[in-house]
Amino acid sequence: MANPVPVIDDISLESLYADPYPSFQRLQRDAPVAFVRAAGINLVTRFDDIVQIERDFETFASSNPVSLMNRVMGHSLMRKDGEDHRLERKAIEPSFRPGVVRNHWAPRFRVIADDLIDQFDDHGATDLFGSFAAPMASLSLMEMLGLRDVSWQELAIWSQSLMDAVGNYGQDPEVIRRGQVASDGIDAAIEVVLPKLEASPDPSIISSMLQAEDKHSIAQIRANVKVIIGGGLNEPRDTILTTAYGLLSNPDQRACVMEDANLWSAAFEEAVRWISPIGMYPRRVTRDVVLGGMQLREGDQLGICVGAANRDESHFDRPDLFDILRPKQSHLGFGAGPHYCAGTWVARQMVGAIALPALFGRLKDLRLDEAAEVKLGGWVFRGPLSLPVRWSI
Ligand code: HEM
Repeated sequence: MANPVPVIDDISLESLYADPYPSFQRLQRDAPVAFVRAAGINLVTRFDDIVQIERDFETFASSNPVSLMNRVMGHSLMRKDGEDHRLERKAIEPSFRPGVVRNHWAPRFRVIADDLIDQFDDHGATDLFGSFAAPMASLSLMEMLGLRDVSWQELAIWSQSLMDAVGNYGQDPEVIRRGQVASDGIDAAIEVVLPKLEASPDPSIISSMLQAEDKHSIAQIRANVKVIIGGGLNEPRDTILTTAYGLLSNPDQRACVMEDANLWSAAFEEAVRWISPIGMYPRRVTRDVVLGGMQLREGDQLGICVGAANRDESHFDRPDLFDILRPKQSHLGFGAGPHYCAGTWVARQMVGAIALPALFGRLKDLRLDEAAEVKLGGWVFRGPLSLPVRWSI
């Protein structure tokens, strides 16, 4: 007999934002599928249950008639299933192929990383959030999309405004307004580049959409560009900061990576596992089904907590520790199943192969600034909110 999904009243949004891991651990142990009232959604926290969900998109759909994301961004590939999803995913795929990433995007990412480090002031101190991680992610994404004449700050504000609007369950009018401003700004920026990309195609994502066999409408282009701006900027930014934080607070592991450059990719993967930049994403139940011994009903909304699953003790040894030398093991930081992150290869190159080695290679004796505190925040999206560092000149 399946059990009804328990209702949890004593987990607050504030506690999840400050540090979700104690609550995740408790849910995993006592209530692996639980309606957390403050979040208004059924949270799924165990690794194996999430794998089961991602193997069955017919029962656990991404499409959702009440999706706030659709209202804010339009109907993007992230909220489609089956053939509709497959065709739009195929359309952007040429821009994300490993060979294109290696030969076309990687050299550009390298120039961006070096330019940013060149601009560091000569006091030997900076906050890597604003001086490196955010512009690195924003400028790289701009190149990949094919957008021009937009500042990195503007793209970052658009990204944040869209994500705030997507999570705006309280219908705050100011958040709706900012989301609309971002959406209009992105539509206008796409309009500017369309004629040039129509006339001379290139490897950019908008160009790939224009060249797709299954021709995209302007509404599809707009929605998919917005979902990529919403989902392709903060995650690489947060992974740059989390990996740097993990290494700077574990000098022995940092020494290993400085000795053996092959370990950069392990450091990157471990950071995505340890503090997953996307900690939770949604699915909708399309038929009555039992999951983890709990009875779910058609129409139930699920929050897939990959941030919890990536610290599931039944899968990872001492999961709360950052350990780049742990045995290689797959994690769920990039999701799984048909919606597995399209940007995985890009992020591996941009962050693990280029941004971090450049930073640690060029700044002598890089270290955390002991006079300033490193703050982390979030549970749906999580990462360092600042990373003050010093180095020797
Ligand atoms: C470390 C960096 C990144 C992480 C941890 C990450 C994580 C994720 C996750 C968990 C999903 C699945 C969401 C779901 O199933 O609802 C996803 C999807 C996606 N990501 Fe990423 N992402 C990263 C970087 C990027 C970058 C750089 C891009 C683009 C340049 C990108 C583009 C996408 C797209 C287009 C999807 C939707 C795929 C689909 O629906 O088929 N991501 N990502």
